Amino acid sequence: MKVAIIYSSKTGNTEEVVHLIWKLFLVEQIDVTLYRIEEFQIRDLINYEAVVIGTYTWGNGEIPQEMMELYRAFETMKVKRLLTGIVGTGDSGYPKFCGAVDEFRDMLYVHTKFIVTLKIEVNLQMKDIDRCRKFVGIFMDQLNQKQTIG
Ligand SMILES: Cc1cc2nc3c(=O)[nH]c(=O)nc-3n(C[C@H](O)[C@H](O)[C@H](O)COP(=O)(O)O)c2cc1C
Repeated sequence: MKVAIIYSSKTGNTEEVVHLIWKLFLVEQIDVTLYRIEEFQIRDLINYEAVVIGTYTWGNGEIPQEMMELYRAFETMKVKRLLTGIVGTGDSGYPKFCGAVDEFRDMLYVHTKFIVTLKIEVNLQMKDIDRCRKFVGIFMDQLNQKQTIG
């Protein structure tokens, strides 16, 4: 079971969150790789069983430019069987809190087997560690089901 976590982070908040999620998958003995968006070969999407996207939000609730190619790839590639989740950080002082997470969620829901969303207020706090555990737990339940069914 191969999992990719693909993320973008300008000031490090999202990076901290996906790093924790990566470690939590490793604890579950999952074959998981963490990629900055710049390091990820988009054509490799089809080589994974599950993908977690990590993104901050920019502009007025927008997806960062560097994530757009990946966003479009989900719309055009054969990824219907992919299990997916989305995690992001944002600032609720903006009108569209974690708008990029919402945009990804809606698209992934249509084009993949979407599982779970997690929004973090700016940067990781103690209370968020448990929320990240839940995120990975929900994901693991689906991965295990998939393995059982074959
Ligand atoms: C110019 C600018 C626009 C932003 N727009 C939004 C927004 O619309 N919605 C939101 O939730 N957060 C917004 N943010 C907050 C960032 O998404 C937030 O600080 C995030 O944690 C940054 O993640 P990073 O450290 O991974 O880069 C904005 C930040 C900046 C600097």
